[in-house]
Amino acid sequence: MTDRIMQSDYMHWAKFKPSVRYALTTSEVPHFRMDKLPLSLDDLDLDGASHPRYQPVRERIAERYGVAVEQIVSADGTSMANFLAMATLISPGDEVLIEQPTYEPILGAASFLGAKVKRFNRAVAPDFGLDPGEVRRQMTDRTRLIIITNLHNPSGSLADENDLRALGSLAAEVDARVLIDEVYLDAVSPRARTAAHLGPEFVCTNSLTKVYGLSGLRCGWILAETPLAERMWRLNDLFGVNQAHQSERLACIAFDHIDGVLSETPIMLERNRKLFNAFAIARPDLKVAPAVHGVTAFPQWTGGETDRLNDHLRDRYDTAVVPGRWFEMPQHFRIGFGLQTAEFEEALKRLGAALDDLR
Ligand SMILES: Cc1ncc(COP(=O)(O)O)c(C=O)c1O
Repeated sequence: MTDRIMQSDYMHWAKFKPSVRYALTTSEVPHFRMDKLPLSLDDLDLDGASHPRYQPVRERIAERYGVAVEQIVSADGTSMANFLAMATLISPGDEVLIEQPTYEPILGAASFLGAKVKRFNRAVAPDFGLDPGEVRRQMTDRTRLIIITNLHNPSGSLADENDLRALGSLAAEVDARVLIDEVYLDAVSPRARTAAHLGPEFVCTNSLTKVYGLSGLRCGWILAETPLAERMWRLNDLFGVNQAHQSERLACIAFDHIDGVLSETPIMLERNRKLFNAFAIARPDLKVAPAVHGVTAFPQWTGGETDRLNDHLRDRYDTAVVPGRWFEMPQHFRIGFGLQTAEFEEALKRLGAALDDLR
């Protein structure tokens, strides 16, 4: 048996990498300033009471995602939502099938929980699409959990609902579940519905982080069928008491003004994706499907390993991307669209200059 993973090297890198002026490394939209919302200190009063499973925030999530309050488990960001969901669903030695490439902490958490991790490939060409046939090939009757991200991190690819249903049917055949990290899904416009509606096999996680610019709130959640949600709440009692209550209160206010929080973000992302698509199509050294949804894309560079590109970008152009080795594909890199457009245009210019230098 291989050793359990006890840390996320990617997360450590993401937190402590040198900062640059043009951070195409971002997978979030610009931070939303809470002082744009009508709130006073009274709204945040800590009254000393204990608020287990704080209902008001779950009511707002229930309304926005069209599920029952009882199906919602609160967590610190999608990160802890993923961990809690996995900790509830994985017993040591269980076979867990995870997409490749994927968000590295998901792999780490599965290993930490003692899972036997197996992988299935996203279809690199043309756009890292989800292929239920490939999942079927890698599945066995010992598979207990299938995990994907949708939108896919790093590529931004949106899974087709029929393919998600097919995954659900595959899982049901062997009494497994499908965990879908939907932290980027709300970037799709018009909004795509959560896979939590597709059947009891589906467990979905999300937060106010990526698309809403409210990562500081750490407001995350899990959507699961009610008895499973109850098991998650009970397990969570081992990890902590309640959520940070002021944050829950702020999250309620954010949900009450969610259109204002989103504001111009979908338009900005659409504009930046178009700029990126025009940029990429004009470059023979990049291979990537046009970005249609989301906050990130994952082009392949013909110049070799992209750590070299990132080092050059940082040293010479005060700009950075995420090297593909963090997604097990070192000749790709991830680029984020969540910058104000003027800044994004300048960043693209610098990326173009760096690519030219290394040609
Ligand atoms: C797929 C995925 N899930 C979860 C997270 C973390 O989300 P949160 O900040 O809500 O914990 C990230 C952040 O990069 C991510 O890419």
